[in-house]
Amino acid sequence: MTEPLLRVENLQTHFASELGTIKAVDGVSFDIPRGGILGMVGESGSGKSVTGLSILRLLGSRNATIAGGRILFRGEDLLTKSEAEMRAIRGGSISMVFQNAMTSLDPFFRVGEQLVEVLRLHQGLSKKEAREKALNALELVRIPDPVAKLKSHPHQLSGGQRQRVVVALALACEPDLLIADEPTTALDATVQKQIIELLQEINQELGTAILMVTHDMGVVAHMCRTVAVMYAGRIVEHGDVADVLRTPQHPYTRGLMASVPRLRTEAAGEGHVRQRLYQIGGSAPLPLRLTDGCAFAPRCPEVGPECWEVDPPTVASGAGQEAVCHRRAEEKAELTGVAQHVGA
Ligand SMILES: Nc1ncnc2c1ncn2[C@@H]1O[C@H](COP(=O)(O)OP(=O)(O)OP(=O)(O)O)[C@@H](O)[C@H]1O
Ligand SMILES: [Mg+2]
Repeated sequence: MTEPLLRVENLQTHFASELGTIKAVDGVSFDIPRGGILGMVGESGSGKSVTGLSILRLLGSRNATIAGGRILFRGEDLLTKSEAEMRAIRGGSISMVFQNAMTSLDPFFRVGEQLVEVLRLHQGLSKKEAREKALNALELVRIPDPVAKLKSHPHQLSGGQRQRVVVALALACEPDLLIADEPTTALDATVQKQIIELLQEINQELGTAILMVTHDMGVVAHMCRTVAVMYAGRIVEHGDVADVLRTPQHPYTRGLMASVPRLRTEAAGEGHVRQRLYQIGGSAPLPLRLTDGCAFAPRCPEVGPECWEVDPPTVASGAGQEAVCHRRAEEKAELTGVAQHVGA
């Protein structure tokens, strides 16, 4: 098997707090192949952003630690890199569109100056070369009148254009991996659709792999090949998008799917879905993990006694789809039992 571009193995990212250790990311593992798009969904607070920030080691707060795991990028563990090596990787071979990225544009500098700075930092280009590449980057994100836009300040652009500039900054150095953390949240529906289409085109044209963090199952259905569903710091289900959307296994994923009634319209090709997730009863827990057992138990329609006490097992169903759930394990054991019986 070929080596994936990114392999995250048993990642643990913890925050020290007055309440105890918050295990914001608690044993997360996934792969992204070269040129692949992995969707990461889950409620607010489930650990999506912390996962993305951990990959680039950008947690930034003093109470944060990456307590375990490996982050293999092209086979090399990013957790063993020096800070200087990480600075070269960030915005170079891995870049990130941050949640609320539009606020990350510097209001005092022209769009062109910001692009030139990124390009010179990472690629050591002359001013002239960097200016040419800055223009290429704006062309890449299909900004109208890119020559004039190089001279604009961010506030002179529309919301959609600003987000295109954010994407241009992330793509300027032609990264192999783009971590896109809710890149469309602050935008209206039409512009959201355009940005999603832009990311898809970039994935197809340049082969940029994408970790697509989103609340929107419609976006997952539209652009991702595989999906990881996060709950309270863990991936509770992952697999091919077609499988997970057609036959979700984890009760949490089933809840998410039930709250997206228009997905069928999406599958039928009737345009993009704007439905937001999460009308599941109850609210997501703070991932303190004071006891064993399934974190979803308090909200789960299928909860049984063991769910409160024992960590659920990982159950495979079909090609590569896995869910972490006692109920599915039970069903599988019953089915296997029947199969053995019939075979006997
Ligand atoms: N600096 C911090 N100190 C303490 N806890 C934190 C810190 N940053 C994040 N957390 C906690 O880590 C958990 C995961 O947060 P994260 O931002 O990754 O969620 P998310 O899935 O990205 O949510 P959203 O959809 O709202 O963006 C949350 O419980 C959050 O409260
Ligand atoms: Mg987030």
